Amino acid sequence: MLKLGVNIDHVATVREARYRGRGQGEPDPVQAARLCEAAGAHGITAHLREDRRHIQDRDVWKLREVVRTRLNLEMANAPEIVDIALRLQPNIVCLVPERRQEVTTEGGLAAAGHMPALTATRQRMNDAGIEVSLFIAPDAVQVEAAARIGSQFIELHTGAFAERFGQPAERDRELERLVAAARQARGLGLQVNAGHGLNYQNLPLLHQVPHLVELNIGHSIISRAVTVGLGAAVQEMLKLMEGYAG
Ligand code: PXP
Repeated sequence: MLKLGVNIDHVATVREARYRGRGQGEPDPVQAARLCEAAGAHGITAHLREDRRHIQDRDVWKLREVVRTRLNLEMANAPEIVDIALRLQPNIVCLVPERRQEVTTEGGLAAAGHMPALTATRQRMNDAGIEVSLFIAPDAVQVEAAARIGSQFIELHTGAFAERFGQPAERDRELERLVAAARQARGLGLQVNAGHGLNYQNLPLLHQVPHLVELNIGHSIISRAVTVGLGAAVQEMLKLMEGYAG
């Protein structure tokens, strides 16, 4: 069964828009995580950014206490955040690139260009019992690098596919890249997740990509929650994911 990890960062984005620096406020990403799990989500994802623009340190500690499924900590390979992750003990970390000016994570990791540093962090996480995923573009060089780094998972960046959704020829090219990368990764013994930009319109096409274990979806679900409620938004997404053939 294809699993759904809900990214709750944007619940914190709304809170920080009003309560930044106040140590409390609404809406609460921890309460949101509880509602997602109650609605059937298989995991909760939060990105503790170096600039703390949405999720705060207190959020990840509280999430570690209350998440009953799997906690996936998205993070840059930065010493401060690596130390927090090792103490926090999420079930899995997903290493992502971070740039200060970006609105959200934009590109995939340049895994091939940062093999020694990524391998060292991968090893430290695994030694602490934490699985590792690398967020990469559907690119053969990056998939190969992820396997050599020894990560357990990759998360294929679906942003280019999502952005080209309205242009069928380009969209299909992006889908083919995702299909090829998933096959290659599986052949190399990697488990394959996917995420970024997935929504209620483009999700059905993603069924064409084989070997997927989990999708990480944030913005579309949190946005839909404004009109139908978070539980219903999660359930609608789970419904679209049903019947995935693998
Ligand atoms: N996966 C990764 C690695 C991400 O950085 C993000 C965005 O924070 C997501 C998934 C979720 O993307 P979206 O909010 O567009 O669903």
